[in-house]
Amino acid sequence: PYITTIDRRSDLARGLREKFGLKDFFIVNGDADQSPELQKELSKMMAEELQKMFFDGAVISVAGGSTMANVGNYLKPTDEKLLFVPARGGLGEEVGNQANSIASRLAVATGSGHKVLYAPDNVGENVLEPLKLEPAVKEVTELNQASDFVLHGIGEAFTMAKRRNVSEDVLGQLREKGAVGETFGYYFNAEGDILRKVKTIGLQLEDLESKQAVLAVAGGSSKKEAVRAYMKIAPKNTLLFIDETIAEYLLNS
Ligand code: BG6
Repeated sequence: PYITTIDRRSDLARGLREKFGLKDFFIVNGDADQSPELQKELSKMMAEELQKMFFDGAVISVAGGSTMANVGNYLKPTDEKLLFVPARGGLGEEVGNQANSIASRLAVATGSGHKVLYAPDNVGENVLEPLKLEPAVKEVTELNQASDFVLHGIGEAFTMAKRRNVSEDVLGQLREKGAVGETFGYYFNAEGDILRKVKTIGLQLEDLESKQAVLAVAGGSSKKEAVRAYMKIAPKNTLLFIDETIAEYLLNS
């Protein structure tokens, strides 16, 4: 039965590569919404693939989220000199799930360096512009633009909006425009149109294309619409880490 499971997953991955033309798909069994263990499996799979890509001098941008938060538990120390950079500033969410904390955890796990973005994620235009010129902020922005890899999660739009305490007004707009997913501050609909972008000094969607690889992770049936929509935005250099429930949905819908 073990072999059968592996065959099944590689069949699914092959089907997905053909359908979406992305770099690769990695799949765990089941529905990650049903089990915290599966969520960890996903993070582990991502950590193992990432570990194979390390090279001396690699710069890695990392976003936040609970799935990303587990990745550090599965990375091993390496002799390669790496630098982890937060893709975002502080988000109104739990500190352990913020990009800054995760960049530092991944750095500790691998024995590497990391940067911190000392800035809130969502600021007004009049604060954002001068903030971008601050040397410590500018350095992180430039590192995000030039990084080799990006690691990020994909979330369901309203779960993320609530986690970030967006106003009722914004919630209403997202509802009206049919938001289904969110990734590092970009909210999108089922067609992959960007509906709203948090004004941020962090990584921008257009930065992704030039990376060697973008590792995106999402598990659980509650995220299936979000991931399907993300397929319309994902750059070709994406490696997607998902569960079987999402994989089947992407293939058959
Ligand atoms: C983060 C992204 O990496 O993961 C978010 O910055 C995304 O924008 C989130 O939506 C998903 O979080 P979680 O906790 O569901 O893994």
